[in-house]
Amino acid sequence: MAAKHSALSLKILAECPVTKARACEMKLPHALVKTPVFMPVGTQGSLKGLVPDQLRDLDCRIILGNTYHLGHRPGPELLEKAGGLHSFMKWDRALLTDSGGFQMVSLLKLAEITEEGVKFQSPHDGSEMLLTPEHSIEIQNAIGADIIMQLDDVVSSTVSGPRVEEAMHRTIRWLDRCITAHKRPHDQNIFPIVQGGLDENLRRQCAKELIKRDVPGFAIGGLSGGESKEHFWRMVTVSTDELPNSKPRYLMGVGFAVDLVVCVALGCDMFDCVFPTRTARFGCALVRTGQLNLKTKLFAKDFRPIDGDCKCSTCAKYTRAYLHTVATNETVACTLLTVHNVAYQMSLMLAMHTSIIEQRFPECVQKFFEDMFPEKN
Ligand code: GUN
Ligand code: ZN
Repeated sequence: MAAKHSALSLKILAECPVTKARACEMKLPHALVKTPVFMPVGTQGSLKGLVPDQLRDLDCRIILGNTYHLGHRPGPELLEKAGGLHSFMKWDRALLTDSGGFQMVSLLKLAEITEEGVKFQSPHDGSEMLLTPEHSIEIQNAIGADIIMQLDDVVSSTVSGPRVEEAMHRTIRWLDRCITAHKRPHDQNIFPIVQGGLDENLRRQCAKELIKRDVPGFAIGGLSGGESKEHFWRMVTVSTDELPNSKPRYLMGVGFAVDLVVCVALGCDMFDCVFPTRTARFGCALVRTGQLNLKTKLFAKDFRPIDGDCKCSTCAKYTRAYLHTVATNETVACTLLTVHNVAYQMSLMLAMHTSIIEQRFPECVQKFFEDMFPEKN
């Protein structure tokens, strides 16, 4: 019998008969989330440019927080005093926190990984710090997110050789330390992370080992870091092949529209990425046909909205010409474009969810690719 996790239940509403796509309802302590879902990324307990009310208006049900940042400021003691991050940031819907190691390794090139944990120099005062699996979970327990991630040993997907295998095995050992350290399994869900680089056998071996543990869901990590699409799709395919149907599958760090559509077809349910919100800050709007760089002169006299079909508050009020004009005004453009780009991601995910339920996911995918890559003449 499948293990019961009171803090998460996944109801599969429909499956696509020709791909591995599924539409689900995932019940978390703070929200009922429709999948496939895209989770926007906040860092210091908010999304850059938006307040929680704006995310709520976009019908966002789950966002990412970040352990590495929050561990410093406000810090676990203050967070616990504030009653956790939900209450601190006035976000009463679901939260997911990453374990922190990945951010450290990717942000601070000086990080060193040992069996104990990830050693790094504090960017605040330069002192040496060590993030262990136990400490990561302690911080995440204080933050109180609905879903927390194990600390994993991530190597860049462009690295090959024995380091990849070592990282995979260490990730499994660290998972067991995380599970032992986890004090709130009744209301926080810990997800292990499939690693194994671009080696199909290591990925399968890792997934087979993780599924022996009684956990509420799984993540696939170590991808979208410069590997070829062939490798990327293959690694996602073998990982979702091994993972159980009955639990959610989270593909970490993936958020380009094309990748979302392909990876939903490959059986992934959850995604996160800084791309839509980061690109908004550079004046870039996401649309059906690709991207509009509103800073270019092309839009100076364009009085249409970003997307006439978009239901967001930016498209309801503002023209491309106006956005072009304010695009150099960091804060205003950042908010307006972030609202639109989050709305774009949400509506793409909802379109997939609905099409799977209505048994027309393949047509939805075809339409998406025709819009994005129109045939010349
Ligand atoms: N974010 C994107 N990829 C990864 C990964 O492999 N591990 C973790 N912890 N976070 C990620
Ligand atoms: Zn819009």
